[in-house]
Amino acid sequence: MNLNIDTYGQYLEVYKYSVEHPEKFWAEIASDFEWKQKWEKVLEWNFSEPKIEWFLGGKLNITQNCLDRNLVENADKKAIIWEPNNPNEHIREITYRELHDSVCRFANVLQANGAKKGDRICIYLPMIPEAVVAMLACARIGAIHSVVFAGFSSQSISDRINDSECSMIITADGVERGEKRVELKKIVDEALVNCPSIKRCIVYNNRNWEVDIKQGRDVWWHSEIRKVGANNEPEWLDAEDPLFILYTSGSTGKPKGVLHTTGGYMVMAGYTFKMVFNYKPHQIFWCTADVGWITGHSYIAYGPLLNSATIMMFEGVPTWPDAGRFWDIVDKHKVNILYSAPTALRNLMAAGDHFLENKDLTSLEVLGSVGEPINEEAWYWYHDKIGKEHCPIVDTWWQTETGGMMLSPIAGIGVAKPGFAMYPLPGIQPLLLNEKGEELHGNNVEGNFCMKFPWPGMARTVYGDHKRFQQTYFSTYNNLYFTGDGCKRDEEGFYRITGRVDDVINVSGHRIGTGEVEDAINDHDCVVESAVVGYSHDMKGQALYAFVICNKPVDDLIKFRNEVGKIVSERIGSFSKPDKIQIVKALPKTRSGKIMRRILRKIAENDYSNLGDTSTLIDPKVVDDIKSGVI
Ligand code: WTA
Repeated sequence: MNLNIDTYGQYLEVYKYSVEHPEKFWAEIASDFEWKQKWEKVLEWNFSEPKIEWFLGGKLNITQNCLDRNLVENADKKAIIWEPNNPNEHIREITYRELHDSVCRFANVLQANGAKKGDRICIYLPMIPEAVVAMLACARIGAIHSVVFAGFSSQSISDRINDSECSMIITADGVERGEKRVELKKIVDEALVNCPSIKRCIVYNNRNWEVDIKQGRDVWWHSEIRKVGANNEPEWLDAEDPLFILYTSGSTGKPKGVLHTTGGYMVMAGYTFKMVFNYKPHQIFWCTADVGWITGHSYIAYGPLLNSATIMMFEGVPTWPDAGRFWDIVDKHKVNILYSAPTALRNLMAAGDHFLENKDLTSLEVLGSVGEPINEEAWYWYHDKIGKEHCPIVDTWWQTETGGMMLSPIAGIGVAKPGFAMYPLPGIQPLLLNEKGEELHGNNVEGNFCMKFPWPGMARTVYGDHKRFQQTYFSTYNNLYFTGDGCKRDEEGFYRITGRVDDVINVSGHRIGTGEVEDAINDHDCVVESAVVGYSHDMKGQALYAFVICNKPVDDLIKFRNEVGKIVSERIGSFSKPDKIQIVKALPKTRSGKIMRRILRKIAENDYSNLGDTSTLIDPKVVDDIKSGVI
């Protein structure tokens, strides 16, 4: 099958084939990679347990595909170009040979420090090439990495370490982001007070800042590296051996450790990168996400390296020294493909077009968007002002759980609509259902967004809690994977994601579980109960609105709000702070005690038009009280 898709007609043909012969289709894709031993069976699955296994019996190491394979023809090709936070500091350029060397050495360091196949290793690093090196070194020895975004608090780090019992953590002294200094090692030290499973902490010296080194536990990256050689034979893993855990927020309870396995994830990340961006070997690819999120895993680290691409990596923030920084980087490094998030684009758009003056953006060939629905205004700005009307925009819909992109226009085939993730990639089989669980056929329909057939990159379980995996994704509808999103299929059959239909809120592209934020708020001495909902926000897409009940009158409202914000920052991270906090006498509850969030969401949106039936509430008067105090 020819996978070079240049027209929509060709896409339709390939798509048809992929649905009629899914196993054959994915096996052909998988054959593009190097396997130490080929699989015996392509797929075994059921969505009831659920059990999903791809490429059974196959043996491989993903780093051999990312690195060793490139030593033949691409050894001197740049793998990573790194731009520091401060534009006056030195850029770094790392070839495939050098990256291979660094990963092998660091794999040896991990082993010398006691790490082995199956161990969980936490990575808490800023946006520096060493984050990629650390991930790949774990993968090389068969250890399972659990990257924690470097904006999370110490409490969040220890929760994640303890949940999967990591034996090691890799961090750095600190990082500057814009003018902000973030002392990562200090945050880790606070976390490790509560982490008995951690035996070793490896510290990368990024800024030369003074840090506490705990003898017997902490070692320096640079001194360990000197003790080891550059040869490291990869651990040959089964296709279904775990590759990494990545924590993500759900509607209830603590974050879930989404687990991805080696063979399927590799095939997914490599295939989607090439297909969606229509990647050509000369192109410099820049994904502006952080490695701490799934987008960074699949499209900073694995996807590009599996395609011998040159990755642009940026340590800083889009608005420092000014809101022209992204465009300076595109100009300076001649970036060809830019993959960013609607939030970032909206912020840069709001900063004003004068930041685009004198910036040469002619190198750009393809633009991507991910993480949340992109509004039309931002889409057109991206298209007209950044892409100068000649770059296709790929609006890619996917999730931490899907491992890679699922819906997206394919760059270069010319069919796109603003705000639409358009169509499923070959191999992906979505469907829409109404509330009764009936499939919605035909066009011009809207419903809950599900998948009816497995794909190689899908999560296999929630670490340590398979039951939760089953309940979260496979219990709403029989034999289907439920994404948690709502979706519309328009009159032409193209898909537009309408947003989450569960209690997950997407703030600036970060997934936040309302339950987690409520738990944090409830830790305030004065708070009896709280309910957090999302509301539309010009810049962030959505922001958090907290309704709280206090046990005594609050005199200083500003102080109270600051305290609540501080608790949320400490427990989770500052990106989860509610924008609005309203004190209420009571929450709208049904007789069974359930908070009617639907009503709170409407109030938070200032939309009182159709609050629906409030007669099932214990006390319908509550709603008027809340309305009268709206911020
Ligand atoms: C949302 C990020 C609309 C969606 C890769 C999904 C999107 C959640 C898009 C997953 C898009 C992601 N259009 N919505 N192009 N991409 N989403 O796990 O609600 O951080 O369920 O993965 O982001 O967020 P996650």
